[in-house]
Amino acid sequence: MNEPIYLALDFPTWEQTSVFLQENHLEGIPVKVGMELFYREGPEVIKKLKKQNHAIFLDLKLHDIPTTIYKSMRNLAQIGVDFVNVHGFGGADMIKAAKQGLMDGTPYGEKQPKLLVVTVLTSMDQNMLNTQLGIAHPLANMVTHFSKMGKEQGADGVVCSAHEATGIKNVCGNDFLTVTPGIRLTDTSSNDQKRIATPQLAKQMGADYLVIGRSITEAEKPKQMYEQALKEWNHVD
Ligand code: C5P
Repeated sequence: MNEPIYLALDFPTWEQTSVFLQENHLEGIPVKVGMELFYREGPEVIKKLKKQNHAIFLDLKLHDIPTTIYKSMRNLAQIGVDFVNVHGFGGADMIKAAKQGLMDGTPYGEKQPKLLVVTVLTSMDQNMLNTQLGIAHPLANMVTHFSKMGKEQGADGVVCSAHEATGIKNVCGNDFLTVTPGIRLTDTSSNDQKRIATPQLAKQMGADYLVIGRSITEAEKPKQMYEQALKEWNHVD
C-alpha cells in the first residue's frame, strides 16, 4: 500500500502551507487539499505540490446536477491528482457522471484519479440527521447505502468514519477503499468532529487511508505527531 496518511492542508494560503511543510520537514508526504486552499490558490497549488512529489487528495466534495459534475470532473482529471470526491447525497446518476468525466478527461497514458464518495460527514451524528436534515434512517444504514450505490456506479471507494469501515468492507468487498477523516491522536481535542477514532482503531476497523488535519497542524510538534500517527498505524497487523 502507498503511504497511508494524508495530511489535511487546511491553510488559507500557499504561502502558509509551504512554510508549514518546510519548517516541519513534511515535504513529499501525501496531502489533502480542501476548499479553503483550492478556492484561494486554484489549480496552481496542485502543480506546486506535485513538483514537490506529494500524492494529492483533492477534497472538493462536489454536489450538483450530473451534467455539471461530468464537466467538472473532466476538467479536474487533467490536473493529475490521486483522489477526488463527490457527495453521496448527489445520487447514483451524479456519481456515474463523475466517473465518466474522470474517464473522459484523463489524458492518454496518465493515471486516472480515483473517485471517492462522501457518505455522511464525520462532523454529523444521528441527532443531526434526524433534527436538522429530517432523515429518520439510522446513520449506519445511510453510510452503507451510499457506499453500495457508489460502488455500483463505478466509484473506487468512500470517505467515511473509521467506525463504519468494517461494515462497508463487508458489503462492498475489501478492494473498495475506505478513507477515514475524524482521526484524533490520543491526547488531542475532537474540535467539531463527532465520529472520531485513533489511527490504530481506524486500521483495526479496516481503513485503507487516514486523513488527519488539526491533530497534526495545530500540534506543538507537528512532525512528531505525524510520526506518532504512522507508528500507531504500522503497529497494527
Ligand atoms: O482537522 P481534522 O483532522 O478534523 O480535518 C479533517 C479533514 O477532513 C478536513 O479537511 C475536512 O474537511 C475533511 N473531511 C471530513 N469529513 C469528511 C470528509 C472530509 O472531516 N467526511
